[in-house]
Amino acid sequence: MESYLLEFGNLLLRWLHVIAAIAWIGESIYFVMLDNSLSAPKGEQDPRYDLLGEMSSVHGGGFYHNQKYLTRPPFPLDNKLHWSFWKSYTTWLSGFALFCLLYLSNPAVYLANPSSPWAWAAVLTPTEVNIAAIALLIVGWLVYDELCRRISPEMQRDGLLSVAVALMMAGVAYFSAHVFQGRAAFLLTGAVMATCMSANVLFWIIPGQRRMVAALQAGETPNPLDGKRGKQRSVHNTYFTLPVVFLMISNHYAFAYSNDTAWFIMVLFILAGALIRQYFVLRHRGQNVLTLPAASAILLLVIGMIAAPSSTPSDSAAPSTHAASSNAAPPASSKAEDKGNAMQSVASVLQERCIACHAAKPTQPGFAAPPAGIRLDNERDIRLHYVKIKQAVASKYMPLANMTKMSEEERQLIAQWQP
Ligand code: HEC
Repeated sequence: MESYLLEFGNLLLRWLHVIAAIAWIGESIYFVMLDNSLSAPKGEQDPRYDLLGEMSSVHGGGFYHNQKYLTRPPFPLDNKLHWSFWKSYTTWLSGFALFCLLYLSNPAVYLANPSSPWAWAAVLTPTEVNIAAIALLIVGWLVYDELCRRISPEMQRDGLLSVAVALMMAGVAYFSAHVFQGRAAFLLTGAVMATCMSANVLFWIIPGQRRMVAALQAGETPNPLDGKRGKQRSVHNTYFTLPVVFLMISNHYAFAYSNDTAWFIMVLFILAGALIRQYFVLRHRGQNVLTLPAASAILLLVIGMIAAPSSTPSDSAAPSTHAASSNAAPPASSKAEDKGNAMQSVASVLQERCIACHAAKPTQPGFAAPPAGIRLDNERDIRLHYVKIKQAVASKYMPLANMTKMSEEERQLIAQWQP
């Protein structure tokens, strides 16, 4: 019952998280588009106001006319002013709650990476892994914030700053792919970006805007740096969006993260996402730079090639009696018998190493239903999922964190099995 309630809570939280993220990112993309689509105001301007630009649009059966003023708008800044922050905070809070519910509550299964090439990371206790995950989020934000403050405090070196932030994210990907297991590594890299995004809103964009509004209400001139800083951080946020969404949904694609070069795949995906975003940013300014999506497409192709599951080990690498006998083209009946035997040995390995989780009623604590909907406790289902089974076992993604101590020989047996 308890694990059912957890599962139900998880579903509700995830729903909230996805909806809040859609609302936040949608609004962010809309405003970046609006900013980039503004055209210079036509006709004589009232010198009391500072109209920067305007855009007309048609939507929802009517026409809109947006105008952007930098510091001196012609309307009152009262409580009708629409602010954008709850969508961001709700996304982060629900995401963090999900992370606690799913990962921090079960670090040995979902976070720990006992096969890490870094000796110290392979032996972290569950508590230490949890601390490492939280620390990564906090340190990630502090480093990013420090880079912005030092490199481009007055927006004078924003180009250099973006390179520095990109390098920092590559470092985060490298670190998390070594310290945490595949799925968590992708998720945490995305969570570092998402934390920077929300913290940008909380610590820079909103406070800056509040100071601007307060100054205007007091009849003073707002500090233009507040506006520029908010803009700088919200531009960063826009480049984070596509990579973050990718890293969050990558959860469902084991081929991407159960890979020796997972960190590199992650970096290429992040880059591909940022390039696509850049294409749309420029497009809204009226530039159609097709080399950007083309470069992104090439990157995605390269990723597809790197992430492709390696073919099963060749017969020569580890000859099996099964391969030898089928080479000799034996009579059909003995071939069928062979297959039956192979199926039995595979089923018994899966029985021992997998069905604590992948059964109709898992015995592994914390599991209410077979994970990913995959049951491995009967031959029919084993046959049904055989491609995924081979992939998950060959890449060492399964058993999760090798909790059930599957041996190399058993992996070989599954690699060579042809159902
Ligand atoms: C400790 C529990 C646990 C054990 C043991 C375990 N699994 Fe899993 N398995 C999971 C979880 C959790 C997921 C869902 C993860 C995800 O969505 O990526 C999963 C997902 C899978 C998937 C789907 C991956 C995909 O591509 O979507 C396959 C296939 C799989 N397991 C096979 C196996 C095999 C084969 C074994 C035994 C060798 C095994 N698992 C042992 C927990 C376990």
